[in-house]
This record gives sequence, structure tokens and C-alpha cells, in this order.
Amino acid sequence: MQPAAFVFDAYGTLFDVHSAAARHADALGEKWVALSELWRTKQLEYTWVRALAGKHCSFWKVTKDGLDYAIASVGGIDSGLRGELLASYRQLAAYPEVPECLKALKARGSAVAILSNGDPDMLADAVNSAGLADAFDAVLSVEDAGVYKPSHRVYQLATARFGVVPQAVSFQSSNRWDIAGAKSFGFRTVWINRTGRPDEYLDLAADEVLKDLTGLLT
Ligand code: LAC
Repeated sequence: MQPAAFVFDAYGTLFDVHSAAARHADALGEKWVALSELWRTKQLEYTWVRALAGKHCSFWKVTKDGLDYAIASVGGIDSGLRGELLASYRQLAAYPEVPECLKALKARGSAVAILSNGDPDMLADAVNSAGLADAFDAVLSVEDAGVYKPSHRVYQLATARFGVVPQAVSFQSSNRWDIAGAKSFGFRTVWINRTGRPDEYLDLAADEVLKDLTGLLT
């Protein structure tokens, strides 16, 4: 059955979070991969701690805090690069198949949306810089829930927006922990496993596992 809505995680699923540091690979040297991995890891850790502790703050803040930790931990990084890296994070590259796949899903009659930890202005920058302004029926930010994923209050933003039950939503994320949260909420879940990672959260299994978005069209 055709889902009423295809709802997508943004960072890592539609947009390549490592494209920010990759753009400065020459200036960062070999360290760029370690820096980028730690930046992402810390950014996410800060969202979970803040959600559990009831201390919500903007995603831009956890993004900056995560970068500052990664810079301090990796060491030897030119201080002038901090601003450049943050500016690049506002203009992440979309994965190559994303524009065509979103367009095709919309043409089939389903609603297409983002549901992300990102602040509304961060998501607007990402969507616009990737040329995806017309791709979405809704761009939903956790800001309206005041808490980060995987709180069910976040997933509820999508069912409320489209007036549907969770089972009518196909939720795509490349973040396995996000899939676990979305599955526990009741969404139909598709894990976009772009990098061939091992499965986890086995009792909260994805309904489908794809290597990129193209499999949604088959
Ligand atoms: C998001 C993060 C989890 O876009 O990637 O919500």
C-alpha cells in the first residue's frame, strides 16, 4: 500500500554531514575524517543528553559545541577553520540520488516531508542550497516539540501535520537509533544503510533496509 507520507530524516539521510569537513580536507589534512566523525558523534550525544535531562537548546548550539570538542580533541587545527566549517554545515551536499527520488515519490501522490533535529533556519539553508525548495510538502523541526529525537513527541509532529496514524507514514533515516525510535512510535521504517553498517536494536527492527533512496521507487 502506498504510504500517505514519506518522511525523511535530514542529516546523514538526505544531506551528507561529512561534506562540510570534506570541503576543507586540503586545509585540515588527513585529520579531516577523524574531526568530522567526532563532530557528528558529539553533536548527537549532546542531543540525547539534553533530551533526557530536559535541557533543550538549539541544534545550532549542539552543532557548534560538537565542533569545538572535536577541534580540541583532534588538535592542531587552524583556528580560522572553525568559522569555515560551520558555514559549510549550512550548505551540506545532498546525496546524488535525492532530488530525483523525492520528485518521483511526490509524483506518485504521497506527501514528502523532512522531520529533523535541525533548527528551522538550518533546514531552510540546507534545503535551499541543495536546490530542494520544491521537493517538500512540509519541513518539520523538533523545535516545535522542544525536545530531540527519539522522543515520541517529535515523531508525533508528522502524524499531527498530515492527520494520519503512524502506520500510514514511511519514515526513512540512515541513523539506526532514529529508526529504533520511529519504529517504537509505530511508523513504517526504512533504514537507509549507506555505508554497510551492522544492524543493531534488533528488537526494534527496520521494516526495510536500503542502501540509498532509489529502492523506495521499486
Ligand atoms: C536529524 C539528525 C538526527 O536530521 O540527523 O534529525
